[in-house]
Amino acid sequence: MRFTTVLTLILLVSGCTDDVEPVKNSYAFEMPANFPAPVYTFGNNPVSRAGAELGQMLFYDPVLSLDSSIACANCHQQAVAFSDPVHRFSRGVDDAVGFRNAPAIQNMAFQNNFFWDGGVKHLDFVPINAVTSKIEMAETLDQVVQKLKRSKFYPEKFRSAFQEDQITSQQMLYALSQFMNLMVSANSKYDQYVRKETDLTKEETEGLEIFEAHCRTCHATDLFTDDSFRNNGLDAGFEKDAGRERITEFSGDRGKFKVPSLRNVDLTSPYMHDGRFNTLQQVLDHYSNMVKDSETLDPLLKQGESLGIVLSAEEKVKLIAFLKTLSDETFTHDKRFANPFIK
Ligand code: HEC
Ligand code: HEC
Repeated sequence: MRFTTVLTLILLVSGCTDDVEPVKNSYAFEMPANFPAPVYTFGNNPVSRAGAELGQMLFYDPVLSLDSSIACANCHQQAVAFSDPVHRFSRGVDDAVGFRNAPAIQNMAFQNNFFWDGGVKHLDFVPINAVTSKIEMAETLDQVVQKLKRSKFYPEKFRSAFQEDQITSQQMLYALSQFMNLMVSANSKYDQYVRKETDLTKEETEGLEIFEAHCRTCHATDLFTDDSFRNNGLDAGFEKDAGRERITEFSGDRGKFKVPSLRNVDLTSPYMHDGRFNTLQQVLDHYSNMVKDSETLDPLLKQGESLGIVLSAEEKVKLIAFLKTLSDETFTHDKRFANPFIK
C-alpha cells in the first residue's frame, strides 16, 4: 500500500514537472547485455513515460471490452509474468472459452512472432486481435476509441503521450506497445549469475548443464526461445489445433507451435499451447517418456527408433532447480507494470 501511495504521488507530481524519477526504475527501454538485439520498430514508436503509463492504464482497463468486463490483465496477470494462472483455455467476455492458453508477456520487444502459431507478426497488431476477438474482448476498435474520447481522463493522457488533439486507434496500439516493450524481464537469479553477481548452487549448475545439452537448441539464447515453430511431440494427430499450419496452410507446419520463452517458467503454469500440463515435472515426464511420433516431430526429439530426451529422475530434479532460477521477482513486483487503478 505504501508503495502504491508513493507511486501515485510521483504520478501526480510528474504531471507538472518532467524530471521526477520513479522510485527505482526509469522509463527508458532497457537493453540487457545478455540479450540479442531487440526487433521492435522503436523508430516509429519510442517508449516515453507518458506513453507507457497510458498503455498501463489501457492494459488494466476493462473499457476495452464490449461490456466493460474484461481487461487485458484478466488473462495476463503480473504475479505470474502476465500469463493466466487459472484457466487452461482463456476466458473472455460472457465467459467465452478460448482454445489456447494465455502466454506470458515479457521481453516482447525481442520477439518476431506473436501467438502460439505466429498469427501476428508485429507487437502493435496484437491488441487488435485481443479487442476484436469474439472469445476475448468482443469489441471494435472504433467503439473503444469512442469510449476513450468520452472518458474524463483519457483525452488528457493521450494528448500528453502523443501531442495530438484526437484520440486514434493507432495511438492506443502504440501506447499498449510502449507499455509492453517496457516489460523486460532480466533480473532472475540466472541473469545475476550471468552478470557474475551471484553463484548458482551445485544442483542448479548441474541443471544448467543438462539444459545446455538437451534443451538449448530450441529454448535458445538468454531469451530461452529461438523464435521458431516446432513440434515437440505432444500429439500424434492435430485435429484439435494444427498450430502453425493454420497460418501458413503448409502441411509441413502441422502441429508446430512457437517455442515459448522459459523465463519465469516456474510461475507460468499451466504449460503448452493448450495448458495440458500443470507442473514442470509433468513437462519433463513428457520430454522423457511421452513424446509422440508424427510427420513433423522435431528431429531433435527422435534419435533412430527412440523418441524424446533421456532424463533420469535425478536429472529432472536438477533441471527443475535450474528452471526455477529463471524466476524474476523484480519483474513480477515492478510497480511500472502494476494495476494503476488500485490506489
Ligand atoms: C480472454 C483472455 C485474453 C485477453 C482479454 C487478452 N489476451 Fe492476450 N492472449 C490470450 C491468449 C489465449 C493468447 C495466445 C493466443 C494464441 O496463441 O492464439 C494471447 C496472446 C497475447 C500476446 C502474444 C504473446 C506471445 O508471446 O506470443 C500478447 C502480446 C498479448 N496477448 C497481449 C494482450 C493485450 C495487450 C491485451 C489487451 C488489449 C490482451 N492480450 C488481452 C488471452 C487474452
Ligand atoms: C525440438 C525443440 C525443443 C526442445 C529440444 C525442447 N523444447 Fe521445450 N518446447 C518446445 C516447443 C515447440 C514448446 C511449445 C509446444 C506447444 O505448446 O505446443 C515447448 C514448451 C516447453 C515448456 C512449456 C512452456 C510454457 O510456457 O508453456 C517447457 C517448460 C519446456 N518446453 C521445457 C523444455 C525443457 C526443460 C527441455 C529440455 C529437457 C525442452 N523444453 C526441450 C520445443 C522444444
